[in-house]
Amino acid sequence: MTDFETILIERRERVGLITLNRPESLNALNTTLMTEVVAAAGEFDADPGIGAIVVTGSSRAFAAGADIKEMAEARYPEFYLADWGAGWDRFAAVRTPTIAAVAGYALGGGCELALMCDIVLAADTAVFGQPEIKLGTIPGLGGSQRLTRAVGKALAMDLVLTGRNMHADEALRAGLVARVVAADALLDEALRTATTIASMSLPIAMLAKEAVNAAFETELTAGLRFERRVFHSTFATRDQKEGMRAFIEKRAATFTND
Ligand code: CAA
Repeated sequence: MTDFETILIERRERVGLITLNRPESLNALNTTLMTEVVAAAGEFDADPGIGAIVVTGSSRAFAAGADIKEMAEARYPEFYLADWGAGWDRFAAVRTPTIAAVAGYALGGGCELALMCDIVLAADTAVFGQPEIKLGTIPGLGGSQRLTRAVGKALAMDLVLTGRNMHADEALRAGLVARVVAADALLDEALRTATTIASMSLPIAMLAKEAVNAAFETELTAGLRFERRVFHSTFATRDQKEGMRAFIEKRAATFTND
């Protein structure tokens, strides 16, 4: 795998681990980090030996947002021409299931990066927020859209308009986070969850992810029809036969991604 400057990459059997590593700026998301996360996730995504991807930061910060120092003096034409932020769409479009393991600050773009992942696991130290309004701007990597879909309008408006922080327990109640664990158990829990997902059939897991994501992009009738068609399509795989036969034969299934 490529050498990276702002992230660390590890492969733990069928799990790809991406650790954001800019401690001097609490993992602020600068252009290099964005390019590297997208590249690493893309490499894992292209590898059928990887069944789940975990993105994590440090105990102090998952990521404290877009890099304010990098963008402070930017002006509209250059941001518009570069379509700043659009590169992250390639991370959000990764088909392999992704897990954000969040400890410490997940603010602004950090909260938005967590929301780009399929599952957010939080340490009890995690702090989420969209403080952009305090900087004279607004969320730019999905905070007004994915956050609103995750927690609803009332709380999204509260967070986006006041810029206040939300602790892990509130994020859990709000539906942003799937599970909260003790900080020192976070990475193990994330890797365990990723290993469980990676033990499934990869094409079926990808189809399941696609079907859940369709709930955010379609109205109900079209979403239900899409789900049904995808469900039908799983019967074209050997892994569906294996999964159901294994159940009937009272043994563990062995999936072959076929
Ligand atoms: N960009 C650049 N540098 C950052 C940063 C950011 N988002 N967040 C923290 N840093 C830097 C600090 O400037 C500081 O660097 P120096 O040592 O060189 O001064 C270092 O990281 C440590 O930070 P603090 O000294 O501030 O640490 P703290 O513990 O006192 O506070 C914090 C932690 C509350 C997270 C605070 O750093 C903070 O408020 N950070 C900014 C959070 C923020 O506003 N994020 C939104 C960014 S805009 C955005 O993300 C737009 C979008 O949607 C795409």
